[in-house]
Amino acid sequence: TTIHVILSGGVGSRLWPLSRKNNPKQYLPLFNEGSLFAMTVQRNTALTSKVIVVGNRDNYILSREALANHDIPHQHIIEATPRNTAAAIAFAALASDPDDILLVTPSDHVILGDEDYAQSIEEGIRKAEEGYIVTFGISPTRPETGYGYIEYEQDQVLSFREKPNHDTAEDFIERGNFLWNSGMFCFRADVLLEELYRFEPAIYRAAQDVWKQQQEGRLDEQLSKKIPSMSIDYAVMERSKKIRVVKTQFQWSDLGSFESLYDYFISTGYPVDEHGNMVIGTDLYTAFVGLKNTIIVSTQDALLMVQKEKSQDVKKVYNTLEKHQ
Ligand code: GDD
Ligand code: MG
Repeated sequence: TTIHVILSGGVGSRLWPLSRKNNPKQYLPLFNEGSLFAMTVQRNTALTSKVIVVGNRDNYILSREALANHDIPHQHIIEATPRNTAAAIAFAALASDPDDILLVTPSDHVILGDEDYAQSIEEGIRKAEEGYIVTFGISPTRPETGYGYIEYEQDQVLSFREKPNHDTAEDFIERGNFLWNSGMFCFRADVLLEELYRFEPAIYRAAQDVWKQQQEGRLDEQLSKKIPSMSIDYAVMERSKKIRVVKTQFQWSDLGSFESLYDYFISTGYPVDEHGNMVIGTDLYTAFVGLKNTIIVSTQDALLMVQKEKSQDVKKVYNTLEKHQ
């Protein structure tokens, strides 16, 4: 069986104050086609025959509602606490048969070009059936530090580097044989679990303990917190020799930060002034004097002003607020 695994556990903290803990960005009706979550489900229904959503208790209702409109069998895995993507993916793999093919995708990306998308995924599924862990590579357009970088030669992955610093990212872009990791993966369930066990046995074992409990209908926060919190990129992708890459042609945008939201908006003709300043969320006439590349985000109860290049740091505001709650 080919299963679409949707990761929907993050809060989208880099898009605060648009994105909130109780209303993460992937469920916001930002587009005519519906939420990013609904669009994610939609583009994969013809390519897979089942959906597994891995998310938290708060998201569960929102995910379920979005899936009710689709005629595809689905299963929800609820995490007691978020332990990052290595654990979330391990749960999906543990819930599947060893030879099931899992197509893991985030729930918060914009992808344009359905045919190109389908072609890339089909190619990925074929390689996954051969026992590879497949990544999907995007041609980079800027030295973004929030992404993983794939050094490649055809479908071979020479190295995988998660979130390099700015200088390193610039160097990668200059060298030319690097792709951004799209954050989507395809593999056989048993292959991923073997590799996770090889490189991070502690995550593997703790996830398995939690999974066993969950099978008995229990959600134990204490036990969940014993799982080391690490992303699949650091845990497996940077280390495994079984990684391959499919170079994609579709248009991809990770609306992960205001910088990428900005790029996306620009591509749709959204207004900016000649210094690259942008306003989101208010119709108030806004004037920028002496500011460059500044993004203002206005919501009912919060106002954010951020320099575009510092978009990754919005997370810090969120984290500080979270601590003082
Ligand atoms: N269920 C669950 N539980 N989902 C989670 C958790 C968790 O604990 N943590 C994160 N997620 C979900 C997020 O909601 C998102 O859909 C996806 O997993 C990836 O997590 P992010 O936090 O958005 O990762 P990232 O953007 O920093 O980096 C990843 O994506 C980039 C492209 O967007 C990496 O794979 C990078 O290499 C990649 O370039
Ligand atoms: Mg992301």
